[in-house]
Amino acid sequence: MAKRLGIITSGGDAPGMNAALRAVVRHGIALGYSIIGIKRGFKGLLDNEYINLTARSVSGIINSGGTILHTGRCFEMKTKAGMNRSIKAIKDLELSGLIIIGGDGSLAAGDILSKKGIKIMNIAASIDNDIYGTDETIGYDTALNIAVESIDKIRDTATSHERIFIVEIMGREHGFLTADVGLAAGCEFIIVPEMETDLRKLVKELKEGKEKGKTSEIIAYAEGCGSSYTFASKIEKLTGLEVRVSALGYIQRGGRPTARTRILASRFGYMAVDLFHKGEKNKLVGITKGAVSVIPISLAVSKEKKFNDKTFKVLKTLSG
Ligand code: F6P
Repeated sequence: MAKRLGIITSGGDAPGMNAALRAVVRHGIALGYSIIGIKRGFKGLLDNEYINLTARSVSGIINSGGTILHTGRCFEMKTKAGMNRSIKAIKDLELSGLIIIGGDGSLAAGDILSKKGIKIMNIAASIDNDIYGTDETIGYDTALNIAVESIDKIRDTATSHERIFIVEIMGREHGFLTADVGLAAGCEFIIVPEMETDLRKLVKELKEGKEKGKTSEIIAYAEGCGSSYTFASKIEKLTGLEVRVSALGYIQRGGRPTARTRILASRFGYMAVDLFHKGEKNKLVGITKGAVSVIPISLAVSKEKKFNDKTFKVLKTLSG
């Protein structure tokens, strides 16, 4: 079998994907593999868009956001025909294995491919940090820092005008990022899909905050909870207080990865190749209690990461 590894970045980009790619390429080459970079996510695999990656191809990318391979969400991979074409493409390329850097969609693709006999290593990368089997995903710390810095700025204008702010944080289905942003930015409330919000209680507490002399109140609001604008007008009507919305959006997904993200990405990339070389396959590479860990992809896709609802209580007490 050819010593040839495929590498793909897929789904929403996350800062640190490039650092992981660099680690895979450089360690793979050191172990004697040639590395085929598949462009534009799984769409590139179906469209035969590949490049040969050398150690020099990944020079100067450890500090850059996004992914030099480009990425995308490939809906064809959810069809039987698309999946069969991708398997054929992998076989035609004579890949000994495929390393997939991405979030839950990438994990689902990895699961199906592995069940069809392709040797897969998934690397957890997503700003949402919503993958079972890893305490942290690549990109999460960077997005967290961007959002916290943004709220620090929003706090200035909120305080000056004595307004309530709803700050919308990314996370289509989960509130892991929102909860940590809320805690780190000293927000008064978090609203996440994992926990029900008692609107009457929230309104009461917002009013009490004002009475206690609070000059600003910031609600970290997860994208997955629905329109932040609709929510804001509801709050404005019910409190009679001035409310503004700031949806942070894609700014959270770009920019230079933090040192923590780069370290995580480098460790994940290195370990994915190392373990593959030692005979591991069909595993998700993540981090558990500070150490790089692996679990079967099939387990990672079948379980939901647990939301730590203690954050809610801590934040409530500290924002008093
Ligand atoms: O999964 C990462 C993420 O950034 C989510 O937080 C967000 O809801 C989604 O991707 C946006 O996806 P797209 O880039 O396809 O608009």
